[in-house]
Amino acid sequence: MFPTHLSVNDLGVFAVAMVFGLIVVLLFMFDFKGRSKGPAIPGEEPLDSEMGNFLDMGKAGSVHEYLILLHEKYGSIAGFWWGEKYVVSLASPEYWKEVNHIFDRPLELFQMFEPLVGKKSIQNLNGPGARKKRQLMDRSFSQGAVKDYYEHFVMIAKEAADTFASYSPEEHIPLGKNMLTMAMKAISVAGMGRKFLNTKEIHKLGSAYDMCWDEMEARLSGPAPEPDSQREKDFQEARGAMRSLVKDFIKKRRQDEEKAEKLFIDSILDCDFMNEEEICDNVIGFFIGGFHTTGYMMTWCLYFLTKHPEVQEKVYQEIEEVLGDEDIKPMVSSELKYTRQVIDETLRASVLAPWGARVHEFDLQVGEYVIPKETPILLPFGVVLQDPNIWPEPKRFDPDRFSQEDIKQIPSLAYQPFGFAGKRKCPGWRFSIAEGLVLLSVLMKRFKFHLVDGQKVKPVHRLMTSPAEEIWVTITKR
Ligand code: HEM
Repeated sequence: MFPTHLSVNDLGVFAVAMVFGLIVVLLFMFDFKGRSKGPAIPGEEPLDSEMGNFLDMGKAGSVHEYLILLHEKYGSIAGFWWGEKYVVSLASPEYWKEVNHIFDRPLELFQMFEPLVGKKSIQNLNGPGARKKRQLMDRSFSQGAVKDYYEHFVMIAKEAADTFASYSPEEHIPLGKNMLTMAMKAISVAGMGRKFLNTKEIHKLGSAYDMCWDEMEARLSGPAPEPDSQREKDFQEARGAMRSLVKDFIKKRRQDEEKAEKLFIDSILDCDFMNEEEICDNVIGFFIGGFHTTGYMMTWCLYFLTKHPEVQEKVYQEIEEVLGDEDIKPMVSSELKYTRQVIDETLRASVLAPWGARVHEFDLQVGEYVIPKETPILLPFGVVLQDPNIWPEPKRFDPDRFSQEDIKQIPSLAYQPFGFAGKRKCPGWRFSIAEGLVLLSVLMKRFKFHLVDGQKVKPVHRLMTSPAEEIWVTITKR
């Protein structure tokens, strides 16, 4: 019953108080559900307020190896300290569903690469500007666009095969060096064309790039050089040489009125929203994305084939059956099913790109936990690619895991060697797979690869996984 003696004024005050009370309750409930009242995310305390857990990462050997230990200890969600920054790592396909829509990357985690890649490269951008650039890139790497690169790839693969043929049967051949040369040619020719970029220039670009990349990797595991040091001068000189080669090529390509084919660079040159520096940054970003990655993918692939001669033979048989004496064409590449399984298993077993990262502007509910807004979220692709609950005996190289039957048992999102979230998966993934199929189709037909005895091949996991030392092989002609 309402007290009848209350005035209209009193009722007004009462109503306002009720509404206010309701808002407070709602805010409390929101806070209760969405923020601080969820269970604490398990994880490590920082060893040091400035260094966070960097020393632990150093002790583990790499970020990837640290993440393996972290998730073994705490489960699929775990927090730790990236220097002064609190970060959360998610290592399960179930949790990944919750971040699948997030586009932005926590740029501070990749800052050390900025001097090489440039501020305006896609890798260093977030928000609407980055999405616009991604759409442009995605068009140059669509299924249709990649078909146009096959001819280039065949030519480059045959050049690589001729180089191998020049070795005698006993000669020890540096596998990584040959694969990286092949990958550098592929990315240069497919991206920029052969017309202005001759072999000499490709080598010049390659050595300037290598020098810059080594410096960037050194900064991942140690301090940056002093501004006036020789090391910094050498880096700036190599960086300058690389940028001037790229700019020179851009100029020539612009002036060329008889472009026989559409290349990656044309899509960048045709767009009207990038200035000269941005164009240069993005061409270099494209090189960085696509050179070492594919080169090491093929190094690991051939290494695994030497360790598993029965798999090598099966790949050869399939290529012979499908292609006979013909060169590979985009139309038939999907028939090389086992060969594709070998590439997929290489990407899984080698953990080629061990981790990625995202950041979200709102609090994020992940299972029963809440990741506070703006917290960098690590996506340890490598931990999931080696999870024994998903991939039994994860260290074993077994392309049959990817047979049509067996792959059905794998949870969706469990196989993400090219990243996934926010439609920001690696734009070059089709390009790399095509390059791998073409190279195998040419090399397997001509040679058998063997590992030189007595080598201990050890992976080094940085932003990419490479062999600690050169892998030496011998070949016999078929
Ligand atoms: C086996 C080869 C490759 C692997 C394993 C690989 C892996 C990756 C991964 C994990 C990412 C981060 C994705 C994410 O954050 O979710 C990425 C990004 C990127 N990759 Fe690749 N990649 C490969 C080849 C290539 C190639 C051939 C190109 C160019 C032709 C390329 C260009 C890029 C670029 C430009 C980005 C940044 C995209 C963005 O920020 O939106 N990658 N790649």
